[in-house]
Amino acid sequence: MALRKLVAGNWKMNGSIAALAELDAIAAAAKANGNIDVAICPPFTLIAPAVARTPELTIGAQDCHAAAKGAHTGCISAAMLVEAGATLAIVGHSERRADQHETDAEVQAKAAAAIAAGMRAIVCVGETEAERDAGRAVAVVEGQLDGSIPRDGTGVTLVVAYEPVWAIGTGRTPSVGDVAEMHAAIRAKLGALLGAEGAKVRILYGGSVKPDNAKELLSVADVDGALVGGASLTAAQFVPIIEGGA
Ligand code: G3P
Repeated sequence: MALRKLVAGNWKMNGSIAALAELDAIAAAAKANGNIDVAICPPFTLIAPAVARTPELTIGAQDCHAAAKGAHTGCISAAMLVEAGATLAIVGHSERRADQHETDAEVQAKAAAAIAAGMRAIVCVGETEAERDAGRAVAVVEGQLDGSIPRDGTGVTLVVAYEPVWAIGTGRTPSVGDVAEMHAAIRAKLGALLGAEGAKVRILYGGSVKPDNAKELLSVADVDGALVGGASLTAAQFVPIIEGGA
């Protein structure tokens, strides 16, 4: 089943008020390519200004806390993100799994919190290079899905992003065959976890998606979009990626 594609940009810890000027052309490209969904996830402080600048563009967050409120200095809840105008939240990015030692159980709780607050959750999974070299890539990702996917997730509330850790920011990508194998395995696992809804959950590919490889990656079976880091920071790079998915 062909799902409507989603091309999302993850600005990570980059951007500024001035950089939001890039959103004008990105929003225009989103409108011009109305057969796919487009989103930008800037740092927390830029969410409300981004929504104010381009209200027609979907704006998301890069994380949220699992709790609704409380003594969690420096953290932000899903409801706060919704109030700022975010409609989706990335959770479980490999940089947070590494830097903040987030576990699958924490990622699952964050995804559930995002969904409960009315957002879509983009749950990230992906193997390290050592795990791939050891022939364990599929098993590792299946294990992450087991631990991280809220079992009441649906095709509307849940998105999965497959991001091989070794492909992030390196300019390296898996072969088309390896992407196809992994996305098929993720699709099968989602079916096992979510039943019929598993077929409706979009599976994004992330890791060194660029204008020159976007079209090929986005045409692989069960690749329902892309999660883009560095190349989402400028309209000059991100717009051709949007067009590659449209
Ligand atoms: O979340 C997107 C990301 O991790 C991929 O980053 O810079 O390789 O596109 P990049």
